[in-house]
Amino acid sequence: MADQAERLRALARTKEDCLLQKVNTAGFPRVIAVVSGKGGVGKTNLVVNLALSLGQLGEETIVLDADVGLANVDILMGLSAPASLADVLQGRMELKEVILRAPSNVAVIPGGSALSEVFSLDNQQKEQLLARLTALGEKKDALLLVDCPAGISRNLLALLGLAGEVILVTTPEPTALADAYSMLKLMQRRRLFPKIYLVVNLVSSSGEGERVFMRLRETCRSFLNIEPAFLGSIGYDYAVRKAVLKRTPFLIHFPQCGAAQDIQRMARRLIGAGAVLSFSGEMEENLLKRLLALWS
Ligand SMILES: Nc1ncnc2c1ncn2[C@@H]1O[C@H](COP(=O)(O)OP(=O)(O)O)[C@@H](O)[C@H]1O
Ligand SMILES: [Mg+2]
Repeated sequence: MADQAERLRALARTKEDCLLQKVNTAGFPRVIAVVSGKGGVGKTNLVVNLALSLGQLGEETIVLDADVGLANVDILMGLSAPASLADVLQGRMELKEVILRAPSNVAVIPGGSALSEVFSLDNQQKEQLLARLTALGEKKDALLLVDCPAGISRNLLALLGLAGEVILVTTPEPTALADAYSMLKLMQRRRLFPKIYLVVNLVSSSGEGERVFMRLRETCRSFLNIEPAFLGSIGYDYAVRKAVLKRTPFLIHFPQCGAAQDIQRMARRLIGAGAVLSFSGEMEENLLKRLLALWS
């Protein structure tokens, strides 16, 4: 631990000293951006059900619905969102007033149109936003899952700058895979190096999911020099559609269904990965990188 702290301090000295003085690193939540190249691949269903599964396993989880224009975390959770982060950024409300409480220790922050405003914030406003985000969890190790807009956009880049980890969702279809690859290429070009996990949704078998992952990882190794990890696959499951129609997450409505079991496996892996990251000090380095990106 002492080594990690020393390494962080050394990194900070070489960059912008003031950052670490302003930010309580121990209180910063683990920020995981959930992205996809193509829309409609099951990203929001993953965010909602993964958050609940993490919550059931005892991880305090906050979902930031940042899919500007297509925000529907609240719909899938049967919640109604009268206010959003936009109201907070414009100074009309406090963050705690816009948070929606869901079961299993999960909270939802509707993003509204706020994320497009992050770009135009001055440094003082960014500092305030970050301070509010850091104060979100009651426990210091709360996890922030961000439902990002599909495809490549300025808003997405702003969000990727905040995330230490990224879950990239695809399906086995060649169009979704091509768009997932473009997303990885973008991160590499922009020199964003979060820890990347791949999820393959709508597979016909777990074998198909693994084959898709291995093919994409091979391409990443050869052309991008990045190494995504496999978080898992989710089988096609009619229960997902039925739960969406009922506005209840399948993890709650059909806890025994195949998709729910797939998600629970991923939640356990994600918790395990967090332990490895923080043990290796990678998380602290990611934190510093994303803070620098936010301020630049
Ligand atoms: N594993 C799955 N099995 C069956 N249908 C699914 C599955 N995942 C997603 N779907 C269907 O795809 C639709 C779109 O999912 P959604 O999570 O809203 O995608 P995105 O957020 O990527 O646009 C859902 O409403 C659901 O009907
Ligand atoms: Mg969505």
